[in-house]
Amino acid sequence: MKRFLLVVGLLLGFSGTGIADSLQAPSLWKNQRGSELRVTSVRNGRFTGTFTNFDPNYKCVGIPYPVTGITSGGPTMFTVNFVKCNTVTKWSGNALGLGMSTQWVLRYAGQTQTGFDIFFRLQ
Ligand code: BTN
Repeated sequence: MKRFLLVVGLLLGFSGTGIADSLQAPSLWKNQRGSELRVTSVRNGRFTGTFTNFDPNYKCVGIPYPVTGITSGGPTMFTVNFVKCNTVTKWSGNALGLGMSTQWVLRYAGQTQTGFDIFFRLQ
């Protein structure tokens, strides 16, 4: 199932069409790690909400942190400062319909980690 969702997400996000949706408020997105992005406000291409990590491979699990980002019909980008864990992660990707394929860069204690997250809209 995870592999199927990954393929769909990749097709949506990297289809090369140059078309992307803006995120809407309110909306709730969940990624393949179980983490949740809740969008509570979108105004003039900027959005706010919360991001909760549910990946048990990380320390800060189950704590909602503020998220800020931009979304205006092109790439969507957002940042979360996981204060308790001294980690800042930035996501960048494209929303299309109920899917959003992203790449992220995580910075912790002078180290950098990168990866992919695919989000699916639940609400
Ligand atoms: C930490 O424990 O250092 C903070 C949580 C980091 C969770 C990362 S952010 C990128 C990736 N996507 C997720 O949903 N969780 C991990």
